[in-house]
Amino acid sequence: MSPTARVLVVDDDEFGTAAADVVLGLLPADEPRLGIATGGTPMPLYAELARRAQRGEIDLSAAYLIALDEYVGLGAQDCLSYSAYVHTHVAVPLGIAADNVLVPDGLAPDPNAEAEAYEQRIDDLGGVDVQIAGIGSNGHLAFNEPGSPLDSTTRVVALSGQTRSDNARFFDSRSEVPHDAITQGLATICRARAVVLLARGPEKAAALAAALAGPVSTEVPASVLQRHPAVTVIADRSAATELPDRLETRARNRL
Ligand code: F6R
Repeated sequence: MSPTARVLVVDDDEFGTAAADVVLGLLPADEPRLGIATGGTPMPLYAELARRAQRGEIDLSAAYLIALDEYVGLGAQDCLSYSAYVHTHVAVPLGIAADNVLVPDGLAPDPNAEAEAYEQRIDDLGGVDVQIAGIGSNGHLAFNEPGSPLDSTTRVVALSGQTRSDNARFFDSRSEVPHDAITQGLATICRARAVVLLARGPEKAAALAAALAGPVSTEVPASVLQRHPAVTVIADRSAATELPDRLETRARNRL
């Protein structure tokens, strides 16, 4: 892991508050650009941000939200799309206008052109200040599946069988999980000024250990974060069980 990486291991009931403290501590005050991961892992973080906004403790209404990925074939009106997720769980509770929310268009007639345009839109906005990321049980980062080039940019990818099975819990059946997605690439994600990698649950333990302590390899796409100079990892205890002692020890000493 990069010498500047921090690893914070927390109890599950403090996951949301710990993650919110870290993210808010990293965000610039002026028009912050927050990279959004979807899925189950960051939900306690988004719920905690919503709570703080409701209590008037924070005001992120001028923030930009930039999604990592979107399923090809699902539009913003589809409640299972990542666009719907970002609006429902982040933009609306934080009072962020739809104009400030960037998600690839899963219904674009030419998904490859949409992917290229999305990469450009992120650049035009000045990049991401803080990228929230999750990790797949197969080590994927966004939808960069094993085998993804470390220098990849935003593009159309085929989802692995493992990812489609993992994500079937959000759909009525596995056969309804889309086969393709538009995802920011590994190089795109690494351009964020800071990355906060979140992991919860025992099914992430092996992938998290491989990403943080194994070799940097296309087979474990999240391992590319070892090359990023400003990564904070927040893991619950069950996701941290396979981390080598040296990582957790450093965390306890530093945080
Ligand atoms: C979601 C994303 C994915 C998820 C990962 C973990 O935008 O890019 O990489 O972060 O699949 O998903 P959960 O949190 O549902 O286990």
